Amino acid sequence: MAVTILAIESSCDDTSVAVIRDGYVLSNLIAGQDVHMSYGGVIPELASRAHQANIVPVTHQAMAKAGISAADIDAVAFTRGPGLLGSLLVGTSFAKGFALSRNIPLIEVNHLHAHVMAHFIKAEGKSLPSFPFLCLLVSGGHTRIIVIRDHLEMEVIGNTIDDAAGEAFDKCGKLMGFPYPSGPLIDKLAREGDPKAFTFARPFVKDLDFSFSGLKTSFLYFLRDMLKADPDFIEKRKADLCASLQYTIVRILTEKTIKASRLTGIREVGIAGGVSANSGLRNRMTELASGEKWNLFIPEFRYTTDNAAMIGITGYYKYLRGEFSGQDVIPLARM
Ligand code: KG4
Ligand code: ZN
Repeated sequence: MAVTILAIESSCDDTSVAVIRDGYVLSNLIAGQDVHMSYGGVIPELASRAHQANIVPVTHQAMAKAGISAADIDAVAFTRGPGLLGSLLVGTSFAKGFALSRNIPLIEVNHLHAHVMAHFIKAEGKSLPSFPFLCLLVSGGHTRIIVIRDHLEMEVIGNTIDDAAGEAFDKCGKLMGFPYPSGPLIDKLAREGDPKAFTFARPFVKDLDFSFSGLKTSFLYFLRDMLKADPDFIEKRKADLCASLQYTIVRILTEKTIKASRLTGIREVGIAGGVSANSGLRNRMTELASGEKWNLFIPEFRYTTDNAAMIGITGYYKYLRGEFSGQDVIPLARM
């Protein structure tokens, strides 16, 4: 019998609801929150209020788009964490209420696990990674190298010791006066610029770990010196600044991914999370794939940044294993 999962994602500033049937996406809707743009970052209080306003209408739309009614849903999956507590509370409470009212299982999902699991969303003609699978997870809050041994079994073998890669994009973008999140704009401007125009400090971090705070500081001091000589420096060299910054971040990420693949011998390799939408990273991974003999998995754009489809596919595999949560489950900002 078909398994239909309603999935809720509300960890940060996007309210997303998806309907997944047997691993295929029937609908995946996202209500963004422009309210944070002018603040240079997500304001938690505003985010939870917007989730509260969005969650019911977005769920109705997701069910309508999937062509299902509440009676067709077998389980509700939701993001338990990590994320902003006030945001997670909205999705968690809604999921609990829905599951209780329908008397169906409730499934908690780890947001980071879900970013990786986006690779296992089924679609006609799409090939899925086999195990073990090595994934570089790069988002606004996390930068990790993960070995995936099974749909529900993962091991983190590399981690950032300070900022995440997405944070490096966003914080450097903020220094250039860009709106939040800056990653997509930097990506766009970088296409017109010279990646070798400027050189920024690349950290030396042992093993498979990452560091991005030094890069941010080096970028800050560089801008400060240049702006002293020419107050219009950023405006004039925007494209070159973005291209050089992106080049540096992509090199840091890909060099560790190569190292991880060589160390583990795993050649099923992928990228996931918001920063995996970055064209520089996607291109560099593609260039590397033949030399490193990778079977490379680049996610569809719509499954890179936060979305409920990835929560739904994770929920689907937990459903098959009977891994359910009780009504006493609480969201966790850190997991
Ligand atoms: O995975 P995600 O949607 O949320 C978290 O779980 O953090 O990732 C958001 C991050 C932000 O830092 C954003 O700037 C970055 O992903 N991002 C990008 C691009 N698109 C989103 N960074 C670089 N290039 C992009 N095209
Ligand atoms: Zn995320």
